[in-house]
Amino acid sequence: MSTLLSNADLETSYAEAEEKFKQRNLKSAAMHASASEVMPGGNTRTVLHYAPYPLTFSKGEGAHLYDADGHKLVDFLGEYTAGIYGHNNIIIQSAIETAVRDGIVLGGPNMMEARLARALVDRFPALDLIRFTNSGTEANLMAIGAARAFTGRPKVMAMQGGYHGGVLYFAAPSPINAPFEMVLVPYNDPDAAREVIKREGDQLACVIVEPMMGSSGCIPASREFLETLREATEETGALLIFDEVMTSRLAPGGRHGDLEISPDLITLGKYLGGGVSFGAFGGRLDIMEGFNPKAVGAWPHAGTFNNNIMTMTAGLAGLTQLFTPAACIRLNAKGDSFRTRLIDSIEDRALPLQITGIGSMNTVHFTEKPILRPVNDPIANRKRDLLHLDMINAGVYHARRGMLNLSLPMVDADIDKAVGCFEEFLDSRAGLLS
Ligand SMILES: Cc1ncc(COP(=O)(O)O)c(C=O)c1O
Repeated sequence: MSTLLSNADLETSYAEAEEKFKQRNLKSAAMHASASEVMPGGNTRTVLHYAPYPLTFSKGEGAHLYDADGHKLVDFLGEYTAGIYGHNNIIIQSAIETAVRDGIVLGGPNMMEARLARALVDRFPALDLIRFTNSGTEANLMAIGAARAFTGRPKVMAMQGGYHGGVLYFAAPSPINAPFEMVLVPYNDPDAAREVIKREGDQLACVIVEPMMGSSGCIPASREFLETLREATEETGALLIFDEVMTSRLAPGGRHGDLEISPDLITLGKYLGGGVSFGAFGGRLDIMEGFNPKAVGAWPHAGTFNNNIMTMTAGLAGLTQLFTPAACIRLNAKGDSFRTRLIDSIEDRALPLQITGIGSMNTVHFTEKPILRPVNDPIANRKRDLLHLDMINAGVYHARRGMLNLSLPMVDADIDKAVGCFEEFLDSRAGLLS
C-alpha cells in the first residue's frame, strides 16, 4: 500500500482512499443507488451510513463478511457488539430453526421466555426482575419511564455525548429525541455530577449512564465517577440506571458486577438476543413490581414482539451454551491483548494516537491527550475516516468512528490481520499522523 500513496495532505489522501474504495465496490455502489430510490439516503439505520456509500453485504461466515463485490473482510464491527456469536454459529442456527419449526407468533407466554429471564437474573447481580423489549432504545425508554413513575419526578440526567438509542442521543442537539426534561453533565466529572444531582433534588427522577461509553469512543467511566453517581442519587432519592446494552459483555456479571456497584435498574440489549432483535430492562424488585399486571394501577408495558420465540430461544442458547462466564472472560482477555498490541504499534512509532476500551471493545483515537469524555475534533475525525477506508480497502471492516469489537469465532489469524493492517496504516500514513 505505502509505495502507491502520495500522502500529499489529509484531504488528498482521503480522496485517493475513497477513489480506491469506489473502484473496488461497484456493486455496492449500484445497490446503494437502488436503495436510495426507496429509502432516504438509501438508509434505514443512520449509523450504517458512511461516505462515499456503505458496503452492501451478501453473506457472513464465522467472523467474516462477504460484500456484494465478493471481497472477504474480517468483521471487527461485530454489529456494534451484537454480533458476539459471529454470523453462522451452529448452536444459534439450530435454536432459531427449532423456534421456527415449533411455530412463531404464538400470542401467549412461551416455553422459553422465563428460562431466558432466569438465566439473565442469575447472571447480572442488579436484576431481581426483568422484562423484555425489542431493542436497547425501548429498554432505556421503559427504564426511564419506570424511574419517573416510581419517583413521581420529571427530570432525567444523562451524560453529554452519551448514547442510549435513536431517541436518546446526546452527542448533538436532536429534534428526534424523546421529549423528556433532560439535564446533561460531562462524563467522568464527579464534582459536576454531584452538584447537579443535589441542585435538581426532588425534581430528578433518574441518572442514566453507560459504565463505559461505547458508541462515543469506548471511554471507561472511572470508579470514582460511578460511585459518586451512586452516592449522590441515594442521597436525593433519584434512581441510578446503568445502560449495559453494550457493556454487559465485558464481564460475566456485566460492568456493574465487575465493579460491584449496584444500580437500581439496568438495561440490556445487543448480543443477548443471540443475534435477533433484543432489549431488556430490570432491577430492584420494588421498582419492577410496578409492572405487575395483577396489581391495581400497574404501569403498562406492551410490545407485540417482546417475547418473540426466535429471540427468546436464540438468546437462551447463546448465553447458556456459548457466552458462558468462562467464554466471556476468555474473549475479554483476547481483547485486552489485542488492544495492547495496537498500543505497542503506536508507541513503537511514537505517533500521537491512542486506543481506549475494555476487553473486547476498543476505539482508536487520533490524539495523545487523556480521553475522559467525547471530543469532537474535525481533523481527528478525518484521520479516523481515512483509517476506516484504508482498513476496508485492506480487508478489515470496523466502525467509521474507530471502534473495533471482537467476536467469539475470531482466531489468531483474524487478530493478526487487523494488527497488520493497522500497522500498515501507521507506516504508510505516518506523515499525516504526526
Ligand atoms: C449504550 C447503548 N444503549 C442503547 C442502544 C440502543 O440499542 P438498539 O440499537 O438496540 O435500540 C445502543 C445501541 O448502540 C447503545 O450502544
